[in-house]
Amino acid sequence: MPGLLLGDAFPNFEADTTIGKLKLYDFLGDSWGILFSHPRDYTPVCTTELGQAAELSPEFTKRNVKMIALSIDSLEEHYSWSKDILAYNNDETVSEIPFPIIADDRRELAVELGMLDPEEKDQSGMPLTARCVFVISPDKKLKLSLLYPATTGRNFDEILRVIDSLQLTAHKRVATPVNWKPGDCVMVPPAIPEDEARSLFPAGVYTKELPSGKRYLRYTPQP
Ligand code: BEZ
Repeated sequence: MPGLLLGDAFPNFEADTTIGKLKLYDFLGDSWGILFSHPRDYTPVCTTELGQAAELSPEFTKRNVKMIALSIDSLEEHYSWSKDILAYNNDETVSEIPFPIIADDRRELAVELGMLDPEEKDQSGMPLTARCVFVISPDKKLKLSLLYPATTGRNFDEILRVIDSLQLTAHKRVATPVNWKPGDCVMVPPAIPEDEARSLFPAGVYTKELPSGKRYLRYTPQP
């Protein structure tokens, strides 16, 4: 059974979180959203990831992205673990995690959203959550999903870079090439004919000559 696919409406789930019970759509409002899961509270990789996510939260806010995390422990555990995460960050100006953490201690959401990692089990043999990332657009559609195993931590700078590309390509008819960063040239998608590309991108379109003679490698300054 496939889980959520790109373009699917994201489920408007209700969840208990460290900021109280919420419904996802009410929480997100008109913003973009990022939901990221963690295998377990009080685990080393998760602590570094949540610490980094907390530190980068102003960058997500700048991009109008609301953050929400999930781990399969109770609210009590989340509150206590949050203190460890803040201590790991060693930043005394921050006194709480700047986004809610869902308490999915019955794994209901983890199952519904296809987040479990079959390779990683707890002491009673129950699967832990994988490191899943969902980016949700303001119209509540799934725009990106990443699924890392529990043993591999994510790169939150890369997640911000991807959000920059998603937000750019949501409004402009361009695609971003390998290792693109905001401000770099972007690519003209193959479906746009040459004459239309010239009028769509007045800053100019540069086409690289290729052995095939096909004119598909087309760059333009980021609009
Ligand atoms: C961790 O967060 O460190 C972790 C969690 C589950 C399995 C392996 C590592």
